[in-house]
Amino acid sequence: MTELGREKLKVLIRRAAIQKRVREVAHQITKDFKGQRVHLVGVLKGACIFLSDLVREISLETSIDFIAVSSYGKDKQTSGQVRVLKDLDSSIEGLNVILVEDILDTGLTLNYLLRILQQRKPSALRVAALLDKPSRRIKEVKGDYVGFTIPNEFVVGYGLDYSERYRNLKDVCILSLPPD
Ligand code: IMP
Ligand code: MG
Repeated sequence: MTELGREKLKVLIRRAAIQKRVREVAHQITKDFKGQRVHLVGVLKGACIFLSDLVREISLETSIDFIAVSSYGKDKQTSGQVRVLKDLDSSIEGLNVILVEDILDTGLTLNYLLRILQQRKPSALRVAALLDKPSRRIKEVKGDYVGFTIPNEFVVGYGLDYSERYRNLKDVCILSLPPD
């Protein structure tokens, strides 16, 4: 248990386990899209570290792009509103798109993104998520490539933040906040 201020961090998934699993997911993508190109679309900012590790383990022709959506507020609560803050740089028409997310939680973000990306006529549209918290689902969505299914805990590290902090942790950790 590490303590920063009065916020407590407890390791949930260690760096080595993440590396191993990211490699496995990348190999599965390489197999599924054999002989083709894949276009990875990272959802900023949480997915940036997962995407950069994942793309280097994929043995195919690849390209990358990023999209940013409003996270619904600064806290751990969701209002259900999603808005595009930064759109893709280029068209995805005819491409094998893999949407790369840090975590599937309520499913609201993913549900929205899948709807707008599908309208742009990709050849395939898949979802890769490092983490999945299925117990929190409001919208029914499924990841095609999921790193780890985790319990209903708020986690940080390996790209995931709490108010923009902790993205740099090498492990995925459970964050507990002091009572108000
Ligand atoms: P969803 O739309 O509720 O599925 O959640 C999407 C976004 O909420 C994720 O991309 C994260 O940025 C954020 N989020 C959800 N759960 C966590 C968590 O446990 N830690 C940090 N961010 C989270
Ligand atoms: Mg995010």
